[in-house]
Parts: sequence; C-alpha cells; structure tokens
Amino acid sequence: MSRQLRVAVLGAGTMGHALALVFAMGGHRVRLTDSNPETLARAQGLMEKALATLEAAHEAPRGWGSAQLAQACTRHADLAETVEGAELIVEAIVENPEAKRDLYARLDALSPPEAIWASNTSYLDVFPLMPKHRLRRALIAHWYTPPYLVDLVDLVASPDCEPEALRTVKEAVEAMGKVPIVLRKFIPGYIANRIQAAFQAEVQFLIDEGYASAQDVDDSALHGIALRFAILGIMAKADFTGLPMLQHAFRNRMYTPPPDTGASASLDALVARGDTGVMAGRGYYDWGGRPPEQLFEERDAKLIALKKALRQIGAMAGRGMKENPL
Ligand SMILES: NC(=O)c1ccc[n+]([C@@H]2O[C@H](COP(=O)([O-])OP(=O)(O)OC[C@H]3O[C@@H](n4cnc5c(N)ncnc54)[C@H](O)[C@@H]3O)[C@@H](O)[C@H]2O)c1
Repeated sequence: MSRQLRVAVLGAGTMGHALALVFAMGGHRVRLTDSNPETLARAQGLMEKALATLEAAHEAPRGWGSAQLAQACTRHADLAETVEGAELIVEAIVENPEAKRDLYARLDALSPPEAIWASNTSYLDVFPLMPKHRLRRALIAHWYTPPYLVDLVDLVASPDCEPEALRTVKEAVEAMGKVPIVLRKFIPGYIANRIQAAFQAEVQFLIDEGYASAQDVDDSALHGIALRFAILGIMAKADFTGLPMLQHAFRNRMYTPPPDTGASASLDALVARGDTGVMAGRGYYDWGGRPPEQLFEERDAKLIALKKALRQIGAMAGRGMKENPL
C-alpha cells in the first residue's frame, strides 16, 4: 500500500512542473524548485492550466482543483528549503551530465540521508555522477511528457539500490494509476525512448535527404503506424502480421539504418535560427503564434479523448495476455 510522501521536485521545466502536478494529485506533499526564477514562476500557470484541462475532462482526482494544488505543491527558490525533510527527491533538471553531477554534489550536503533520489534522465547513466554512498537510495524513474496523461514510467535501480527504495517508488507510481516497467539494468533510453530514437534517426534522414516532408512523416505515423500500435503494441502486431513474413523481411535485409553522423542538418538549421519547437512558436511547423499553454491544452484534450476511447475498447495485447516462452 502506497503512503503519502514528502516529495521534492528539482527543475520546473517541461517535465518538472508536470511531475510536481502528478505527485500533488497523487496525494503527496510536493516542493518544487528551479534555478531559473522565471521558469519557477511560469510553472504555476502551467500546472493550473494542465489541471483545468484534467478537471474539464473529469480526469482530475475527485474534489481536486487549484485550491488543492496550492495546498499540496509549493514553490521554493532555495534548494535547501526544497529538500528539507524530503523522502523522495525527483531530479528533473537539464539533461547535461555536468549540471547533474554538480547538483548531486550540492544535494549530498542537503538531502536527508534516507531520501530516495529519483532521476528523470532520458538517456544518461546518472549513477556514476552521484556520490557513491547515495547509490543505496538512488534510482531512475523516467516519465513521459505529459506525465499526467502518459502512464508509462521506466524504473531502473542503481547497482547498489536497496529493494525497499525501488519498491517504495514502484508502489507510489502504481498508486497514481501509472504503469511502471522495471528494467533489470540501465540502458540509455530504456525501451520506449530507444524505439522512439530509432524512429527519429530514420525520419531525420528521410527529411534531410529530401525523401519526405515533416507532414509526410507525420501522416505516415498517424495513419499507418499509430492506429495499430495503439491497440497491439509491437510484438502483438508481429503476431498479427505473421512471423514468417517478418522472417522473410529480415532475410531480405528489410532495413538498413541511416549512417550515424551524430547530427541532422534540418535540426541544426532550425535550432540555429531559434525555431526550437512549440515553446518558441515554431519548429518543424509554424504554430501560428499560438502560445504553448494553448497548444498543450489542445494536445492534452485530444490525448484524454484517445485514452478514454482506448480504456473503453481495451487493448488487444498487453497485461493479462500470456507470453509464449522463447
Ligand atoms: N522533455 C521531455 O519530453 C522529457 C521526457 C522525459 C524525461 N525528460 C528528462 O527530464 C529532465 C528535464 O527535462 P526537461 O525537458 O524538463 O528540461 P527543461 O529544459 O524544460 O527543464 C530543465 C529545468 O532545469 C532547470 N535547472 C537547471 N539546472 C538546475 C539546477 N541545478 N537546479 C534546479 N533547476 C535547474 C532549468 O532552469 C530548467 O528550467 C532531463 O533529464 C530530460 O532528459 C524530458
């Protein structure tokens, strides 16, 4: 049975503000910080907007609104104040090993000894960046954006992690209605991000080499891939395709990954001119001057509608289906 935890969320950017909201709605007491005062201030509005979207769709906890959020989650400029008395410290700062190492060193002096450190890193092996004696209470808990709607959470215990620390986080995540996957050891990107990274490397190649536009890529994803993935995943889809067909595809060398150049020309060009995505109003698409709050709201409303539909029809594969031993 999961209990209420005192949670400190470090970093209030794209992930941090949303994680603070998730833990607050999950019944935990949350303190949120960011080294950038503007980001910390903006987090409040983003949390309230996301909560309002959930409330409108009847997806927020019963009796929950901005008053409950204000009570459950407070913002603090000071790191020491944020982590004082914390039982779970969620690290969601920038994906930069030096910044994380520096934060862990400062945290070591401030964090309660028994606090569990949970990094939201997407690809970094953060354990060598942490003081060794902290590893017995350290793990990765990797969420997906927006974490108040996407249920998957990857959990990776540090090599020295006490089973109880992993269990505490797993139970807390499950109690919030999420779907934790415990990986046996660290691999950059876990499962879902590795698959997504392979997709991304491929489509950057298709765009950069002039085979297709961003819209062509997204039409192919939405109309070809997503519909079946949503109910079958990947391995159940293989069963429906028929395994001999897949075997032939392998024998015929169905796929050669693009050359690994470590960069994408279109990505570099867009970032260089400040077109960094919805936060900047433009990325691969021009978002028509609409603020990120509005775009997030529209995305979230559609995600909720899709989740409701999937809940209603049920996935064909997944939990409850027996796996055929290999
Ligand atoms: N964006 C995503 O979709 C996503 C998904 C899953 C995991 N992640 C991971 O979550 C982490 C955060 O990613 P993000 O997208 O939210 O980044 P972000 O850039 O939106 O936010 C990071 C925040 O950390 C703050 N920060 C930097 N150093 C700090 C410090 N020492 N103390 C406190 N705050 C500090 C920055 O000011 C910034 O606001 C990364 O490790 C990333 O890999 C991101």
